[in-house]
Amino acid sequence: MSDAAVIDRASLDALDKKARAAIGASADEKALDEVRVAFLGKKGEVSLLMRGLGGMSPEQRQEIGPVLNGLRDNLAAAVEAKKSALEDAALDARLAQERVDVTLPVRSEPKGAIHPVSQVMDELVAIFADMGFVQAEGPDIESDWNNFTALNFPEGHPAREIHDTFFLEAEKDGHPMVLRTHTSPVQVRTMVSQKPPIRIIAPGRTYRCDWDATHTPMFHQVEGLVIDKTTHMGHLKGCLKEFVAAFFEIDGVEARFRPHFFPFTEPSAEMDVRYERVGDEVRIGQGDKWMEILGSGMVHPNVLRNCGIDPDEYQGFAFGMGVDRLAMLKYGMHDLRPFFEPDTRWLAHYGFTPTLLPSLAVGLS
Ligand code: PHE
Repeated sequence: MSDAAVIDRASLDALDKKARAAIGASADEKALDEVRVAFLGKKGEVSLLMRGLGGMSPEQRQEIGPVLNGLRDNLAAAVEAKKSALEDAALDARLAQERVDVTLPVRSEPKGAIHPVSQVMDELVAIFADMGFVQAEGPDIESDWNNFTALNFPEGHPAREIHDTFFLEAEKDGHPMVLRTHTSPVQVRTMVSQKPPIRIIAPGRTYRCDWDATHTPMFHQVEGLVIDKTTHMGHLKGCLKEFVAAFFEIDGVEARFRPHFFPFTEPSAEMDVRYERVGDEVRIGQGDKWMEILGSGMVHPNVLRNCGIDPDEYQGFAFGMGVDRLAMLKYGMHDLRPFFEPDTRWLAHYGFTPTLLPSLAVGLS
């Protein structure tokens, strides 16, 4: 009964004041929660008073009960209001702290770029894929058979020497393995493993022992091969002319085919395009000079036979071109050596945006 005796309006008003002051003084949500527990928690001051209601006389309870309930509800509402005010303040503080000043200059970060060799390879693949060629691959380390013998380089033939071959210590079939001197062994691999009709394009690394402004010991080629029953030299010329126009992105590139010799094609031809030099710039497609850009020819019957294809039934053409050289021509680079030096300034200047994949629909470069 003693509990009930002290409950009167005055003491409730005092309690209300005290609680509101504590709520108002809470600096953060944690402090506010402590205040809430101290007054409204199970053992909080208000809750203890509520428990005391049971011991009051009915009259007293009738008077104090509603007041106490009101006090409790009002304090709970005050805690909630304070809580959301504190949350708003915390959010404002965080927003102020995490503010990004969009007017600040962009911090310079190292930028990646697609190397011109990769770019040109992608361009070549896009052009030939559009003509129905499928991409093929072969390893950099090749057997003597795939790199030479199957391609109709007779053993001991001087043509093997013109390639300045890197020979390895490892051997296969009694011959040293080689770093492939051209991508033509991919022709052999394809014909041995697939039935005609064949239409492949094979980009990759190639190696020759050579080093000056226009030759590096590692360089890149793209090989093309078409085999079926009726393909002839006219198809070769049409296909390569179309390629040149697409690659240099100019109509009416003047090109010519000049007789040449490769052991694996007969007849063989090198393709030249017209160009002129204006100051530092090389202009393709016009002018009074000819520049050789690729080797080509009708696949030699011996090569077909070596790969298990009957030359009386099938024929076709092949071509091979130097990717680095094409990149130099198209994008106006004079020296091949920086292609293979880790110079980020060179790459920043000559490199390509990674997100722009070359395609005939959108544009090659
Ligand atoms: N493999 C030849 C070279 O590297 C290029 C070539 C390929 C020529 C296919 C004719 C046919 O020079």
